[in-house]
Amino acid sequence: MSVCKGIYHVLIYAKTEHKVALRMVLIPILNLNMEKRIVIVTGGAGYIGSHTVVALHESGYRPVIIDDFSNSKPEVLDGIAKITGVKPQLFSLDCRSKNDLLEALQSCTADGEVAGVIHFAAYKAVGESTEKPLDYFENNIGSTVSLLAAMSESGVSNLVFSSSCTVYGQPDQIPVDESAPILPAESPYGYTKQACERLIMDAFKSSMPLSACLLRYFNPIGAHQSANIGELPIGHPNNLIPYLTQAVAGLRNPLTVFGNDYPTEDGTCIRDYIHVMDLARAHVASIAWLESNSPSCEAFNLGTGTGKSVSEVIAAFEKTNGIEVPYAFGPRRSGDVVAIFANAEKAHRELGWNCEFNLEEALRDAWKWQLQLAQA
Ligand SMILES: NC(=O)c1ccc[n+]([C@@H]2O[C@H](COP(=O)([O-])OP(=O)(O)OC[C@H]3O[C@@H](n4cnc5c(N)ncnc54)[C@H](O)[C@@H]3O)[C@@H](O)[C@H]2O)c1
Repeated sequence: MSVCKGIYHVLIYAKTEHKVALRMVLIPILNLNMEKRIVIVTGGAGYIGSHTVVALHESGYRPVIIDDFSNSKPEVLDGIAKITGVKPQLFSLDCRSKNDLLEALQSCTADGEVAGVIHFAAYKAVGESTEKPLDYFENNIGSTVSLLAAMSESGVSNLVFSSSCTVYGQPDQIPVDESAPILPAESPYGYTKQACERLIMDAFKSSMPLSACLLRYFNPIGAHQSANIGELPIGHPNNLIPYLTQAVAGLRNPLTVFGNDYPTEDGTCIRDYIHVMDLARAHVASIAWLESNSPSCEAFNLGTGTGKSVSEVIAAFEKTNGIEVPYAFGPRRSGDVVAIFANAEKAHRELGWNCEFNLEEALRDAWKWQLQLAQA
């Protein structure tokens, strides 16, 4: 970046004994904020996005958020500012609009060096996607098409994409690694993740200058340790932990555990629960990896490598937080796989990333966040 960008024209009104003299001086200011490389974060006001914005800031990047607040609130940016001391720049727009995206990307490239885009913006409720498949295709796939086109036109080439372990369905082997086959999607939501991965891989193989990390998340839980940001589901929570914490807080009916007759030790499903701040740091590592490994297009599993059953999670929550979870067993839920957890060796090896938090710490932070919400 040119030094001229750090030079500000400063007007100094200097009082002398008899007159006010206007002097114009040039003061070179090394504006550290402008020196930082920009990372554009679509869906940056959402659950994983907001934690990633914090992790990017802590790693010396300048995160810029794009969000339409369809599943988040602008107040999230205040929570981020409480942690980082900086309210991130925001473009409030719908990623389906290529022109709006292009304008935002061009504004960023004019402002500094853009290290890449992290694309979180999508609808994510599996059940809802079966009711509204067109909305899911339009938003999740449409936004990704618009983003790729806007990146191509603005010369931004590094992309980190939010994918999911749902692309594997119920794999033959667990822990599952990235070479496992992509099975036919169980839901329109799952299909959108597969379709976007394919889109990005095809764009990578084309003449478009593009490098990408396809991050296949397992089950993100928890919140920032400060409890200034966390998961804020609008309406009925679809995931285990936000429902559980709301049930414990008395805001919901007792938790229903979907099925206790699965072929697992205690009969409940097994998942790989990863602390959201560990997941957030993996995005920072992915951006850094892309900066030194382009052109590349690689998929990475992001999980702890350990599977926990729903009953084990409930017991761990009760022990960690010293509070009882109201729950009952119910019938199986359609579309749930029996057991899945990650082989994340590739991410450890290539990205130099590892999890720092365990399940108990994630459950502690999830409960702390719920308590903070009750006080707000
Ligand atoms: N949370 C999980 O368990 C999980 C698991 C696997 C993959 N993912 C994927 O990770 C990503 C982030 O998930 P999350 O849990 O943070 O979800 P979230 O709903 O909390 O965040 C998504 C954000 O994107 C915004 N958004 C949605 N559509 C938009 C559009 N067209 N234009 C601009 N903004 C838009 C929403 O307002 C929200 O702030 C999603 O792509 C999701 O599919 C999530």
